[in-house]
Amino acid sequence: MHITDYSWTEFQNLSMPEKVISLSRNDGTPFHTLFAQQFNRANLDRLCRLATEIRTIAKTRYGMTFLRSLLAHKRAMLYFTQPSSRTFLSFLSACQITGLNVGEVRDTATSSEYKGESREDSIRTFSSYFDLIIMRSQEKGLAEHMAWTLSNSERPIPIINAGSGKDQHPTQALLDIYTLKRSFERRGGLRDKTVMFVGDLARGRTVRSLSQLLINYENIRQVFVAPAPLQIGQDVLNTLTSHGVQWEVTSDMHARLPDVDAVYMTRMQDEWDSTKGESAKIDTSRFKIGVEEMRLCKPDAIIMHPLPRRDEISTEVDHDPRAMYWRQMRNGMWIRAALIASTFDCAGRIDEFHRENL
Ligand code: NCD
Repeated sequence: MHITDYSWTEFQNLSMPEKVISLSRNDGTPFHTLFAQQFNRANLDRLCRLATEIRTIAKTRYGMTFLRSLLAHKRAMLYFTQPSSRTFLSFLSACQITGLNVGEVRDTATSSEYKGESREDSIRTFSSYFDLIIMRSQEKGLAEHMAWTLSNSERPIPIINAGSGKDQHPTQALLDIYTLKRSFERRGGLRDKTVMFVGDLARGRTVRSLSQLLINYENIRQVFVAPAPLQIGQDVLNTLTSHGVQWEVTSDMHARLPDVDAVYMTRMQDEWDSTKGESAKIDTSRFKIGVEEMRLCKPDAIIMHPLPRRDEISTEVDHDPRAMYWRQMRNGMWIRAALIASTFDCAGRIDEFHRENL
């Protein structure tokens, strides 16, 4: 069944596997990209390969000219009503790489929403001028609602969720997977590894989405390290258990550092505080990485962070070869270019160009 076969209420009440099917195109790849659950091993491998092909092709002027011709006839709208630096800029760059022309709204005070227009009407308006909407919102489920609204309109253009509420950030998880895969290329790939998440796991959407994507890889152990009030949600743990994934919840980061392969640090998500200053009362001193902690880590472990950081990773760590966060950020541009190309069915042409020219 397709998304257009359901009313909004029916769609909302579908199980996740049913939603995933209803959002897929005939070849099984996502039309709208809303949830991490839409990615399986096959489409993850495909996207990572495509990202690397794009990255290689983009090294020459000839290659860039080819990439920019792919979507030169299309336009994308970046609708980012929640603050963003990296996700916004990497999507903008990904659009430029694939030739898309871009428009943007970053502040509803400058759009007609300020005059009382509903978000639904605003998004429908954008759909008249654009062929893709990439959106970030602090509202859980908004991207989903917009996807349903557009699919049921006369201009059913795709939506890519660039971060929604506290729940999902599927494209961050894609770039995290791409980074892990590249980092472990010479160590048997992304299997049999232990990934440790540290920080505000209760409200960090990147952790939720990445934890979900890691289920697609064999024998990955997930360790969640946080002070009690910021620990990972039981729903995430239940999902892992139901997939037979080994997990551990602890507040002792130092004890676990020596045996993990990747440390995924996150910042305090205090913009979600219900009373001002409540996060500041939580003792996070034992959840930071500095030079001392790096001594405890394996020589080939990697340190990741979706960024922005505060003080959870000391700047002294930046020059350690195990610090992966800057490369991780750049990987975002390539995997997002791959996602956009695949959303518009350009993967075959990229493969062909790569095969013939490189
Ligand atoms: C994250 C986000 O917005 O969820 N950042 C990002 O997209 N790179 C994490 C954060 O803001 O802490």
